[in-house]
Amino acid sequence: MKVIGVLTAGGDSPGLNAAIRAVGKSAIRQHGMRVIGFKDGFRGLAQNRTVELDEAALSGILTIGGTILGTSRDKPNKMAIGDQVWDATPVIMENCKLLHLDALVCLGGGGTQKNALHLQQAGLNVVTLPKTIDNDVAETDVTFGFDTALGIATEAIDRLHSTAHSHHRIIVVEVMGHNAGWLALGAGLAGGADVILLPEIPYSADDVAEAVSQRRRGGAAFSIVVVSEGAYSRYHLERYNELKAAKKETEDPDKLAEIEAGLQQALRLRRSRTNRLAEQLEIATHLEARVTVLGHVQRGGIPSPADRLLATRLGAAVADMVADDQYGVMVATQSGQVVPVPLDEVAGRRKTVPLDHPWINTCRNLGISLGID
Ligand code: F6P
Repeated sequence: MKVIGVLTAGGDSPGLNAAIRAVGKSAIRQHGMRVIGFKDGFRGLAQNRTVELDEAALSGILTIGGTILGTSRDKPNKMAIGDQVWDATPVIMENCKLLHLDALVCLGGGGTQKNALHLQQAGLNVVTLPKTIDNDVAETDVTFGFDTALGIATEAIDRLHSTAHSHHRIIVVEVMGHNAGWLALGAGLAGGADVILLPEIPYSADDVAEAVSQRRRGGAAFSIVVVSEGAYSRYHLERYNELKAAKKETEDPDKLAEIEAGLQQALRLRRSRTNRLAEQLEIATHLEARVTVLGHVQRGGIPSPADRLLATRLGAAVADMVADDQYGVMVATQSGQVVPVPLDEVAGRRKTVPLDHPWINTCRNLGISLGID
């Protein structure tokens, strides 16, 4: 009887329980395997905190948000324990040996793919699945969690429309997505935003203000500006690059300290950029602006049917991979087909929005501003 371990790592996302259920049920029913869950991602793997994933444990979890296993952002090779950082890889290898684990299934985003590759290279048999609301994992059409978050963000934008319209205001709505603009672009388009700002396209606050003013001149005294949390202005980009270049050029400690302070300030300002953008827009357009940060609401709650389907399909395929001794792969969808992709082709790569993506072209066709002329 093969024994497989399952863990969820990184930020939680809708569809994780559907995937755990599919991996487990398929492994047990189709292949007669034993399934063990590790609590709280790689930390639970290092600390040997396990839970038996039998039929009873896997029952009734399909529609539940989050992850029944718990999650963390810990890395196997850099794990904080107390005030020290340890390489937990040898302990993890020992734990897996004691449990007679034949394979480890890691459900996660970009960081998890990297950590999984590390464990594969250390000698474990690893298979992964791509989950994240950010949709930024390379080599897969889509990640589970994205569709649910897209629905939540779109509904929020729908609701913001009526209040923006009633008060003749600009609503600047910040959407998650880390350094990829998929969620902002998708929700912005689906929700009928007037401006969409993405990390892939550094914006000019003046151009955003002009887009809003143009709408006002055309008779629409309200605007919805969707900002991806990773978006930044051209001004910031230039300032940051200048400081980085200056840092390389000098060895003078006073000058270096001054540059470092400038870099820190640039980072701080970047973090509060949504509020700053709203202020800039108020000043430039003479319209009132309000900020809504959607935050973790986008990650919570029940998974959409599309995410349940994707997670279930991929999860079932994982059990087949393990049965065939096919390891070192992420189970992905490419052109709608379920395929194994070598982990070293995925780890360390981020799928951002290509500038010629059809959604970008659609924005341009509809006259939706992307924050540049
Ligand atoms: O990766 C998913 C995500 O929700 C990102 O969109 C966001 O930047 C990040 O996680 C937030 O992380 P945390 O929940 O640790 O604050």
